[in-house]
Amino acid sequence: INLPLYDFKDSLIFPGMIDLHIHAPQYSFRGMCMDLELMDWLNSYTFPEEEKYEDLDYAEKAYKIFVENMKKGATTRSCIFATRHRNATILLMELMEQSGLISYVGKVNMDREASDKLVEESADVSAYETFGWINAVNGKFQNTKPILTPRFIPCCTDKLMEELREIQMAYGIPVQSHLSESKGEIEFVKMLRPENPFYGDAYNQYDLFGKNDDIDTDVKTVMAHCVWSSDEEVELMLKNGVYVAHCPASNMNLTSGIAPIRKYLDLDLKIGLGSDVAGGQSESIFRAITDSIQVSKMYWRHVNQNYKPIVFSEAFFLATKGGGEFFGKVGSFESDYEFDAIVLDDSCLEHPQQLNVLQRLERAIYLSLDVQGIFAKYVNGNQIF
Ligand code: GUN
Ligand code: FE
Repeated sequence: INLPLYDFKDSLIFPGMIDLHIHAPQYSFRGMCMDLELMDWLNSYTFPEEEKYEDLDYAEKAYKIFVENMKKGATTRSCIFATRHRNATILLMELMEQSGLISYVGKVNMDREASDKLVEESADVSAYETFGWINAVNGKFQNTKPILTPRFIPCCTDKLMEELREIQMAYGIPVQSHLSESKGEIEFVKMLRPENPFYGDAYNQYDLFGKNDDIDTDVKTVMAHCVWSSDEEVELMLKNGVYVAHCPASNMNLTSGIAPIRKYLDLDLKIGLGSDVAGGQSESIFRAITDSIQVSKMYWRHVNQNYKPIVFSEAFFLATKGGGEFFGKVGSFESDYEFDAIVLDDSCLEHPQQLNVLQRLERAIYLSLDVQGIFAKYVNGNQIF
């Protein structure tokens, strides 16, 4: 076989970053509106912004900026929340497809507990729009796939969850949502759904929570946050093979708390990193790597000394092979893995000594070289730039 050969000289070459959780419509207010906790933040800033995506001209303007920046960065694959709007979600998927990046994109479902303009009229309308959306995009793109996206339990009636179960069974598509992110949210879920012993059980009840051996289904599922998951909830995630998207920047910004990542790693839970823009201020998974290390240190120091801080190699694993597993054989240069790669030029960082490759990688990530140092990027063997 005759394959091209490139010489990137002394550059660093390593697997692309995986973002298991990001909100494309919130990209417009990233780095702003950082003064509230989750539920107030949603009502005051997030819902009013997401309302605007009814207008396709606005959606196009905003989503172009999002996609352009995702393309430039170190992320090769991502799980993306759009809004509840069908047409704007299709538009976002078309733009993502043109970028060459690989993604799951979800039209959000939400039929209660949001602003009048954003909430969907009824469970039936939400389901109808979801059918229309899936039929428009399923199998249409090579790199961009639909993912079922109930916003979270507070925003979804029982009837809607029941209809989403049917839709999931009909199409077999994966699921993404939020789980046990903040104390206020969890209290609210307890009040709305007293019949469920823990939050995750409310998703599991509708077979939207990973594998279910009882009915022999395997729904690939990723849940963002899991900051406050109970032992029972963690046990079920483990049993069902549910992925955790750990989003440390968001958990700090919204003062949600610190997810016990050492505990999850010890248990062998499936975990990757998420930026959770705009809860997180930046789409940089380099930043998520360093944040995840730093918050694990605070957890160990201030919360529980049984759980040692995670180290750089573990956080790098989460950002690549950990999250990559959601996409298949992804996140490593081992044979039979899909080739996602970042070529990074760190020659701008001078040093009085000769550094080894591992030292250079750690330094480039801590010093945010994804902002200016990316020289080339490959996704599944295709060169993006
Ligand atoms: N829970 C429900 N919706 C959201 C959202 O948009 N961001 C975050 N961080 N949590 C949520
Ligand atoms: Fe989120």
